[in-house]
Amino acid sequence: MQEPRAQALLEVTGVTVRFGGITALDGVSFKVMRGTIAGLIGPNGAGKTTLFNCLSRLYGFSEGEILFEGKPLTDTPPHGIAALGIGRTFQNLALFRTMSVRDNVMLGGHARSASGFLSNALRLPHVQREERQLGARASQVIDLLDLQAVAATPVADLPFGTQKRVELARALMSQPKLLLLDEPAGGLNHEEVDGLRLLLRRIQSELQLTMLLVEHHMNLVMRVSDQVIALDFGRKIADGTPAEVRENPDVVRAYLGVEA
Ligand SMILES: Nc1ncnc2c1ncn2[C@@H]1O[C@H](COP(=O)(O)OP(=O)(O)O)[C@@H](O)[C@H]1O
Ligand SMILES: [Mg+2]
Repeated sequence: MQEPRAQALLEVTGVTVRFGGITALDGVSFKVMRGTIAGLIGPNGAGKTTLFNCLSRLYGFSEGEILFEGKPLTDTPPHGIAALGIGRTFQNLALFRTMSVRDNVMLGGHARSASGFLSNALRLPHVQREERQLGARASQVIDLLDLQAVAATPVADLPFGTQKRVELARALMSQPKLLLLDEPAGGLNHEEVDGLRLLLRRIQSELQLTMLLVEHHMNLVMRVSDQVIALDFGRKIADGTPAEVRENPDVVRAYLGVEA
């Protein structure tokens, strides 16, 4: 009997993105293994957001290939990305502020629901069943992220750190295999960042998902990630364990004057 080969969930090979004269990504390659947390770091303008936008198919790329579960991402249209199993949060919160936490979370499930507009409008039995399933899932996700106490509260009435948890909850509703987090610690205070670190670990182990995390908060990235990938001027300059990447001379150089 052969052991099943450890398969990369995500495999990025030689991805290049140009905007006019600017090469935002220059032949970037890396792999993310299933069930791991990978941190993506780099100074401003390094290409982190561009890479994220390639992964969620907001941007096209001129060269290279991205395989998700061994299949080219370009086989899937941008609106099919959530159904494929890739979820994301945004750097700037994208919530419905007057709606309750629970309703915002529920919306995340509809990206993946099978019912069409007409059967939804007619409230056919299978739609009602689907709504019940979504409701049950929302309750689970709300529990997992400790949002029970504020489930009925309008999002606008909550502190920023809690709003960010709501966004995370919504992204989990589509049951992603790969979760892309865009600066989840942005705007959080010291205590909240520590809470986030524990929460990401809990989500990862309970839901067995894989995460790719763009983050400026070095302490968080280094403590939460299994693997860290560093970009500078569109090129990958380091890829390894947090300890390896932290000591990489190119990484230290890239951050001098930025972090120091
Ligand atoms: N839509 C765009 N049009 C033109 N240039 C862009 C666009 N998006 C990013 N860039 C450029 O690509 C480079 C990488 O940007 P970005 O991916 O946003 O970096 P990071 O997220 O690491 O700060 C920068 O020089 C930026 O100005
Ligand atoms: Mg950016």
